[in-house]
Amino acid sequence: MRQSWTLAAAAAASLLALGACAPEAPAPASAAAPPAASATDVVARGKYLANIMDCAGCHRPGALTGQARPDTPLSGSQEGFEIPGFGVVYPPNLTPHETGLGAWTEEQIITAVTKGERPDGRILAPIMPSHAYANLTPDDARALAAYLKSLPPVEHKVPGPTTPEQAKTPYLTMKVPAA
Ligand code: HEC
Repeated sequence: MRQSWTLAAAAAASLLALGACAPEAPAPASAAAPPAASATDVVARGKYLANIMDCAGCHRPGALTGQARPDTPLSGSQEGFEIPGFGVVYPPNLTPHETGLGAWTEEQIITAVTKGERPDGRILAPIMPSHAYANLTPDDARALAAYLKSLPPVEHKVPGPTTPEQAKTPYLTMKVPAA
């Protein structure tokens, strides 16, 4: 009995050795846990997400008039959107300046992005695509918030929500042709 165990063990060992030598053998899976993402990796992931989710398509100065300014990405737009029944809203400054998200925690940013709710409880106009961003994984939402917090702060206050009559800067509006 003892003999056959030894033989079996030897056979298994030589099979393993063969496997290890075979050129097409898959790389052995590492038993070690993957290293935790560093803060730089998280910010890089957030930057990648902000790019493909096109935050700058609305939140970059000049973006809505086809004259996007390259120097101050995500510092907000002086041009807004008129949302029927809601008023005129402007994509705010997302940099960590006090005229932007400087006083917001990462948690508050995540709630605004994924649930469309500001820290003061106001629900954002649906032109801010929170309904789509609600599907972010918790890790990606955190990465996005960390990236916004890492931006150089830019002083730029955009107009607050207003009415078409009181709007002082341009806004995009939708005309529904008469039937
Ligand atoms: C289609 C245009 C559009 C896109 C794309 C967009 N936003 Fe917005 N966002 C807005 C508008 C407009 C508002 C302001 C709405 C309001 O005041 O009701 C807003 C509001 C916000 C707010 C609340 C800020 C505040 O001061 O109230 C945050 C945070 C935000 N957006 C983050 C993002 C991020 C991050 C992305 C990309 C992942 C993004 N947005 C993409 C249009 C957009």
